Amino acid sequence: MPISRKVHGYISQSSWIRKMFEEGNLLKKQYGAGNVFDFSLGNPSVEPPVEFKETLRTIAGEDIPGIHGYMSNAGYLETREAIAASVSKEHGISLNADHVIVTCGAAGALNVICKVFLEPGDEVLIPTPCFLEYRFYVDNANGVATFVKTKADFSLDLNAIRDALTEKTKIFLINSPNNPTGKVYDEASIRGLAELLEERSRAYGRDIYLVSDEPYRDIVYDGITVPSLLKAYRNSMIATSYSKSLSLAGERIGYLAVNPGISDFEEVMSGLILYNRTLGFVNAPALMQRVIAKIQGVKINVGEYGRKRELLCDGLSSIGYEFSRPDGSFYLFPRTPIKDDIEFVRALQKRRILTVPGSGFGGPGYFRIAFCVDDATIINSMGGFGETFKEYR
Ligand SMILES: Cc1ncc(COP(=O)(O)O)c(C=O)c1O
Repeated sequence: MPISRKVHGYISQSSWIRKMFEEGNLLKKQYGAGNVFDFSLGNPSVEPPVEFKETLRTIAGEDIPGIHGYMSNAGYLETREAIAASVSKEHGISLNADHVIVTCGAAGALNVICKVFLEPGDEVLIPTPCFLEYRFYVDNANGVATFVKTKADFSLDLNAIRDALTEKTKIFLINSPNNPTGKVYDEASIRGLAELLEERSRAYGRDIYLVSDEPYRDIVYDGITVPSLLKAYRNSMIATSYSKSLSLAGERIGYLAVNPGISDFEEVMSGLILYNRTLGFVNAPALMQRVIAKIQGVKINVGEYGRKRELLCDGLSSIGYEFSRPDGSFYLFPRTPIKDDIEFVRALQKRRILTVPGSGFGGPGYFRIAFCVDDATIINSMGGFGETFKEYR
C-alpha cells in the first residue's frame, strides 16, 4: 500500500458531506441542476458584499514594489491591527496586533492551535453534534479527539462535560453558532463552562485551554448575540474566518485571536506563529489580507439567510418534521422520522434531495440541511420532503 494504513482508513470514513456533494454532482449531470435539491455543502449562497468587491478591485490595481513578496508569518501589521480593533470592540476586551495571527481560514487556525498545544495523546474534548473534520485536525497533531453529548436541545451539558474532562484534556473546543445544529450557547452556559474549566484546571494542576471556533458568529437571527469566550475565560483563543461572514470560503482568509491573559503569552504566540509557517501555510493570502484590513465591520446580508430559514422551517414543520429553529449559521438539524438516519437520507436522495446524515456529525437520528441555497431549491424540494416523510410514518 503506497499510502499509510491510517490514511487509507481515514479516506473511507472521511466526510459524509463531501460524499453527498459528489453524488449530487452525478445526479445533476443526469437530471439537470434545476431538478436536484442539493443541501449537502455549507458553501455560502449569498454574494460577498459590494464593499468587498470594490476594495478588491482597487487594491488589485495598485502597483506597489515588493507587495507580492513574503511577509511576517503572522500577517501584515495593518491587517492584524484592524482585526484586533474589531475583536476588541466586539468582545469588550483589549487586544492589539500582537494578539492576532492571520490564518488560512478557521481550519488553518485550528490546525495551528492543535499542533502547538498538544503533546501526543493529549485530548481535545468536543461537544456533539459537531463538525467532524475536527477529528483530522486533532489527529494531525497526534492528539485524541474525545466527544461529549449536548442536551436534547443541543445546549451544553455541564454535568456531562465535567464527567468527560480528564487529566489528559488539553483543549475544550466549542463551535457556536454550531454546525450542524445552529445552536448558540447562551451566556449562562458559557459562564458555567468557564468556571468548570477553571476548577478542573486547578484540580488537575495543568491548564485546560478553551478554543472557540466561530466562523458563523455573524450569522445569527432574532436579535441573538453570541457570548464572548475571550471575555469569559483567560486561557482562551478564537479561531475564525471570513468564509461565511463575507462569503469568501474559497479565499482561505481567517484569523486566530489569543486572549492577552493566556498563560505564557510570549511563548504561545511564538509557537503559533512558527506553526502558521511550518505547517505549510507560511502566511495567509496576501491580497486578501490587504482587502480585509480595509473592510472590517462589513458583513453579508444575513437577512437573506433569515428568509431562507423561515421558508425551510415553515415548510418542514407543516409537513410534520421536528426540529429546533436554528439561532444562527445556515444549517437545520431535524430529527429523522426513523431511527436510521442513513436510510432516511438515502430515501431523500431517491427524490433527488441531498442532505447529510446526522451520524456524519456524531448526531445519529438527525440529518443536516444546509439552507445556503436558492429560495427555489427550498420551495421545490418540499414535495419530496413531504413524500419521504409520509413513506416512513
Ligand atoms: C464549524 C466549522 N469550523 C471550521 C470550518 C472551516 O472553515 P474555514 O473555511 O474558515 O476554514 C467550517 C467550514 O465549514 C465549519 O463549519
